[in-house]
Amino acid sequence: MVSETGPRLRAQLDGIPTYKPGRPAPTGATAYKLSSNENPYPPLPGVMEQVAASAERLHRYPDLACTELTAELAGRLGVPAAHVATGTGSVGVAQQLVQATSGPGDEVLYAWRSFEAYPIVVQIPGAASVQVPLTPGEGHDLDAMAAAITDRTRLIFVCNPNNPTGTVVRRAELERFLDKVPSDVLVVLDEAYREFNRDAEVPDGVEIYRDRPNVAVLRTFSKAYGLAGLRVGFAIAHEPVADALRKTAVPFGVSQIAQDAAVASLRSEEQLLLRVDALVKERDRVVGGLRGQGWTVPETHANFVWLRLGERTLDFAARCERAGVVVRPFAGEGVRVTVGESEANDLFLRAAEEFRTVL
Ligand SMILES: Cc1ncc(COP(=O)(O)O)c(C=O)c1O
Repeated sequence: MVSETGPRLRAQLDGIPTYKPGRPAPTGATAYKLSSNENPYPPLPGVMEQVAASAERLHRYPDLACTELTAELAGRLGVPAAHVATGTGSVGVAQQLVQATSGPGDEVLYAWRSFEAYPIVVQIPGAASVQVPLTPGEGHDLDAMAAAITDRTRLIFVCNPNNPTGTVVRRAELERFLDKVPSDVLVVLDEAYREFNRDAEVPDGVEIYRDRPNVAVLRTFSKAYGLAGLRVGFAIAHEPVADALRKTAVPFGVSQIAQDAAVASLRSEEQLLLRVDALVKERDRVVGGLRGQGWTVPETHANFVWLRLGERTLDFAARCERAGVVVRPFAGEGVRVTVGESEANDLFLRAAEEFRTVL
């Protein structure tokens, strides 16, 4: 007999927000995608050659342990290889971190608005999100976050720089916050945009984690390293946490092409970071241009800018799209705009200026 109810799915899945990717640029028109915080530069030639060479072994499973990549990262960061855990993008590793620490009845704390995957990865294992509003300056309210810790808190994300606002948490305030967090609560410093930071007071999470067993650092090859399409990210964490990440990983999740391209990118790091410098200059030009037009733009240390537009958010995004740039609107809140090619940034600045004249 055919059942009429269908398979029983976990109730925790009800109400999980769907991840909305940045919209692609429409085909056929001159349009730029400034909606996903991607790197506008294509992979470096050496990386492309490595990808082609690795593709010859597509009939083989990848190295489950990501041995070469792990060794390369451990050497560069000065950490034991056992503290490096790789995964399918840093969002994959973020999901594993939640699975390893939190389930029904547990709470995961983070600022809001922040990276939109956090509510999703928290809810999948049945944990509850506790979202602490950003300050009026669009940054983390660490005092309020410390006050929101309860006996149920198992994990805290600190997104530094914060997506989508670009704001940063500085060393002294972070240390003060970490001193207040119970030692059995894991704090994850999500540093997806770290390479774009130019403020010396913003700490390197890897330095912070060294003498704090309850701190893990999350990094990615998707942004500065320009490998978003290959899905590879990693965490640096003390052994119990790193071991738990190896247990929760999808076996063979990181393809050999991704592993090899990541190693090749690390070995071309100097050239890659010159591109990051160029993007930082472009970012500063965009921020200067917007402020010159009269916009309030929070200080950003990432590869994007944030405009709080409230009810005008969707109108603004539509105007940008008509001008040839696809941005990322968060309805009722604001727009995040990735720093892209100079021509794209020019189009965006022009659209922003026109929008102000019709306000
Ligand atoms: C703050 C933050 N963390 C993590 C990620 C995930 O990146 P990936 O899974 O490509 O490494 C993103 C991507 O947008 C992000 O903004």
